Amino acid sequence: MSENNNSGGFLGWIDARFPLTKMFEEHLSKYYAPKNFNFWYFFGSLALLVLVIQIVTGIFLTMHYKPDGEMAFSSVEYIMRDVDWGWLIRYIHSTGSSAFFIVVYLHMFRALIYGSYQKPRELIWLFGMFIFLALMAEAFMGYLLPWGQMSYWGAQVIISLFGAIPVVGDELTLWIRGDFVVSDATLNRFFALHVVAVPIVLLMLVVMHIIALHEVGSNNPDGIEIKKNKDANGIPLDGIPFHPYYSVKDLVGVVVFLILFSIVVFFMPEMGGYFLEHANFVPANQFKTPEHIAPVWYFTPYYAILRAIPDKLAGVIAMFAAIAVLFVLPWIDRGKVRSVRYRSTSFKLLLVMLVISFIGLGYLGALPATETRTIFARIFSLGYFGFFLGLWWISKNEVTKPVPERVR
Ligand code: HEM
Repeated sequence: MSENNNSGGFLGWIDARFPLTKMFEEHLSKYYAPKNFNFWYFFGSLALLVLVIQIVTGIFLTMHYKPDGEMAFSSVEYIMRDVDWGWLIRYIHSTGSSAFFIVVYLHMFRALIYGSYQKPRELIWLFGMFIFLALMAEAFMGYLLPWGQMSYWGAQVIISLFGAIPVVGDELTLWIRGDFVVSDATLNRFFALHVVAVPIVLLMLVVMHIIALHEVGSNNPDGIEIKKNKDANGIPLDGIPFHPYYSVKDLVGVVVFLILFSIVVFFMPEMGGYFLEHANFVPANQFKTPEHIAPVWYFTPYYAILRAIPDKLAGVIAMFAAIAVLFVLPWIDRGKVRSVRYRSTSFKLLLVMLVISFIGLGYLGALPATETRTIFARIFSLGYFGFFLGLWWISKNEVTKPVPERVR
C-alpha cells in the first residue's frame, strides 16, 4: 500500500491503486516554485490553455469538415453559416493558432531574458524547441485545410522549397505532396497529420517538457537557483508551493487572456487580414496564382530571411538555420549569469538588436518584396544571426553585476 494513503475513504482506495495524491503533491501542492515569478511566467500555463482550446475546437471542426479537394472549401463555409455555433468554433480555432504563437514567442523570449535555457535546463529548452517545430508543422498543415487561395499557394510555395535541395529535391517534393502539384492527395495527408499525428507528438512533448521542468525546478527572474538555500526540512527558502499560490495567480493570467482573446474572436477575427488572410476567402484555384503570396504573420520573419537571399538553396538553408540556431542556444551562451538583470550592457544591446530584427523581418515578410525592403531584410537577417554570434563572443568573458544570494 502506498505511503501516501493517509486519507482513508475513497481517495485512500484510489491512492492504494494509483499514485493520485503522490502526483498531486509532487507536481502541484509540494512543487516549490520561486516566489518571485512575474508577468513573464504566465505564458507557460497560457500555452497549455491554448493547446487545450485548439484540441477541443479542432475536434468539433473535424465533425463537419470534409478533407476533400471538391468539398473542403464549402464545408468550411457550411460550418460558418449553417452549423450551430460553427462560426464561433472556427473563429476560436483560427484565432487560437495566432494566439498560440503570440504566447509561445513571449514564453521563449522569457527564457531568453532570464537564461532559463542554461544549465541545468537545456533539456527543457530542447523539448521546447521540438514543441516549436511541431507547432509550426501543425499550423502549416492546418492552414491548407480551408482550401482557399492562400492555403493552396502558400503550401505550393513552401513545399516547392524542398525542391532546392540537391539530388533528392524533386523526389522529395513529389513525396510530400503525393502528386505533381498540391492536390487532393496533399489535402488528405495534411488532414491526417494535422488532426492526429502532430497533436499526439505535441502532447507527448509538452508532458516531457513539464517533467523535465519539475525535475530541475523552475528558473526565475533573478536567475538564482532556489535549491541552494533550503530550510531544515529541505524546502527551498525562496520557494512557495505551486498550488495554491501559482495556480491562483495563473488564473488571473487566464482571465486577462480570455478577455483579450474574446475581443478578437467576437470583434476582429480576421485581424485586418493577419489572422485570416483575405485571399483565403476565395476557393483554391490551381490555375490562378494570387498577386501576392505571404504566409500567416507568425511565419513571416523566416519567410523574410528566405527572400532576403537571392540564391534559392542558400535562402532555404538560411531559413532553416534561423530555427536550427535556437536549438544550440544553451551551448552558444557561455555565460555564467542567467538573468538579464545582472548581465552586461552588451548582452542587453544584443537582445534589443534581436527583437528589432525579428519584428522587422516579420513586418517585411508580410509585404511584397521591393529593392529597398530586400536591403532592410538583409540588414535584419544579419541582426538576427548577429545576436547568436555576438552572444557566443561576449558571453565567454562577460562582465556581469554581482548576483544576490537570495531572490529579491
Ligand atoms: C505548447 C507549447 C508549450 C507549453 C504548453 C509550455 C509549457 C510550459 C510551462 C507550463 C512551463 C512552466 C511555467 C512557466 O515557466 O511559464 C514552461 C517552462 C519553460 N518552457 Fe515551455 N511550453 C511550451 C513551449 C515552449 C517553447 C517553444 C520553449 C522554447 C523553445 C519553451 C521553453 C521553456 C523553458 C526554458 C521553461 C523554463 C522556464 C523557467 O523556469 O524560467 N517552452 N513551459
